[in-house]
Amino acid sequence: METALEVSNTIGGYFPLHCTGKNDYYPNLIKLNTSRNALGYIIHLKKYTKVYIPYFTCDVMLEPLKRLKIPYQFYKIDAQLEPIIDFEIGKNECLLYNNYFGLKENAAKRLSKLIDNVIIDNAQAFFSKPVVNIDTFYSCRKFFGVPDGAYLQINTNERMELEIDISEGRFSHLIRSIDHGIESSYINFMENEKALTNLGPRTMSKLTHTILCNIDYEFAKQTRIDNFNFLHSKLSAVNEISFEFPDSASPMFYPLLISKPGVKRDLIENKIFTPTYWPNVFNWTTENMLEYKLARDLVPLPIDHRYGLDDMNHMLTKLKI
Ligand SMILES: Cc1ncc(COP(=O)(O)O)c(C=O)c1O
Repeated sequence: METALEVSNTIGGYFPLHCTGKNDYYPNLIKLNTSRNALGYIIHLKKYTKVYIPYFTCDVMLEPLKRLKIPYQFYKIDAQLEPIIDFEIGKNECLLYNNYFGLKENAAKRLSKLIDNVIIDNAQAFFSKPVVNIDTFYSCRKFFGVPDGAYLQINTNERMELEIDISEGRFSHLIRSIDHGIESSYINFMENEKALTNLGPRTMSKLTHTILCNIDYEFAKQTRIDNFNFLHSKLSAVNEISFEFPDSASPMFYPLLISKPGVKRDLIENKIFTPTYWPNVFNWTTENMLEYKLARDLVPLPIDHRYGLDDMNHMLTKLKI
């Protein structure tokens, strides 16, 4: 472990923010600024010549492909949210698969055995440990109050030389929301998301890493499991998702798939905010595709460490289904 002198080059003086924890959840993984840059890192070192990418994903994943001028091809998923592989993956090509919602760890493991060059996007699955030797990345701010940060496991000893990121200027929504609330700082949040666009690959900032080292991961993980299981016990009968949910996963949210317009709008009227995964999918697909339906009808209910079963009950009373 580094000494105080090694960390800050000084002894004494005023106190910085009190973040002295040492809980790095993935101490052996590479620390980067964003997960899209983790994808770029893999493609660069593995010299892939083409990437198969799901229609059902976030468009920022195209940023590194465009930057590195790597051709890509979209693929469809089935009702289990697993790839329909009706194409040949060449020796120098790779397939990117999302561990959707944090509930597709078993599919990720199966694919890792089946396909040579698979890359697992665990942005929605922070607590899903990487499969040995399989290139895998995580995006920290999807699970915790940090503005950026990603972890990467890559199956090579080669490393890229990168500058360290400085994320001090991207904290306004995280700090403001404590005094002023989530809603009044939403604009700051959007600005931060914009600031990450086309941000080049860097290693994770010290500030982000420091905050990550102060999280009670076991509490965060268990709260998600408890909230998820509670919602599932109440909503499984109406949920149109057609695969079995694993018992032990600690997912990003509860994925309620429901073909009824207006569910999200009713929730918003009650100040329950659920995102759309992902708006770009409407541009990439047509109405008859499953991916389009998922983007339209998925209601991702929050289950994170800020909430307990009373909050889950409250949410259920506001769900008009
Ligand atoms: C599934 C998924 N993977 C990756 C990303 C990109 O993560 P980052 O912002 O850390 O690059 C996103 C969205 O931001 C996402 O939804």
